[in-house]
Amino acid sequence: LAKVNVITLKHMHKKGEPITVMTAHDFPSGHVADAAGMDVVLVGDSLAMVAMGMEDTNEILVEEMLLHCRSVSRAVKSAFTIGDLPMGSYEISPSQALGTAIRFIKEGRMQGVKIEGGREMVPTIKALVTAGIPVLGHVGLTPQRQHALGGFRVQGKSSSSAMRILADALAVQRAGCFAVVIEAVPPQVATIITDMLSIPTIGIGAGNGCSGQVLVQSDMIGNFPPGRSLPKFVKKYGNVWSESFKAIEAFRYDVKNRKYPGVEHTYPIAQNELDKLPT
Ligand code: KIV
Ligand code: NA
Repeated sequence: LAKVNVITLKHMHKKGEPITVMTAHDFPSGHVADAAGMDVVLVGDSLAMVAMGMEDTNEILVEEMLLHCRSVSRAVKSAFTIGDLPMGSYEISPSQALGTAIRFIKEGRMQGVKIEGGREMVPTIKALVTAGIPVLGHVGLTPQRQHALGGFRVQGKSSSSAMRILADALAVQRAGCFAVVIEAVPPQVATIITDMLSIPTIGIGAGNGCSGQVLVQSDMIGNFPPGRSLPKFVKKYGNVWSESFKAIEAFRYDVKNRKYPGVEHTYPIAQNELDKLPT
């Protein structure tokens, strides 16, 4: 498969071909997403929760994101790679954001970055785009601002709130984003925004009218312990946690009962050499 880039994505959008985006947080999760033909692999800051066990995404540091980005970059050969700028690493000024974004390109080996926010991020997005860094926008529910939003809540449920999200999406498009994530808004609102934009929209909890879709890999493959509640928009396509659990439990049984390793898992020694050893 040829390497996906911003031009490839533009062509897909023009043809009406949905764009597939999947998160990854390490070498294996990047490798499988790339092998399964994802157009874009996103190293989302959601890895703070799904890979590092943090309460929310606000705790994760730039250095930690960069470590994960580097791991993913070694696995992804075809997909376009995007790294999520973490909370606190881009809000102070466009030059702060540019400094962080450059680290994501050079140290994280990403091809572009994602930034949460709307109209207020226009000068920042422009600074990055001017420097030649592709920027993916992110409007609607912006998890890094959950405390200001009053939690993980659906956005755009009133016409005035929906109009603000539309204004945000148009603003980040004007600033130069190559695409924009729309998170947790009613499908009708996301469809209206998609129709009014010339760049692709990538939906998550935003219905089937977007130009593409993204999910958090650990959620959609079912790689989390039982009892954890998922957002309504997640479709669980697999049962990886229970597969891992079964395998590790079987190993435990085998070891406790001396059923593993079998001879087929061992290295041979010649009989004449064995005969020289003490018995
Ligand atoms: O952090 C993340 O994984 C994201 C995507 C779900 C859009 O921001
Ligand atoms: Na994120």
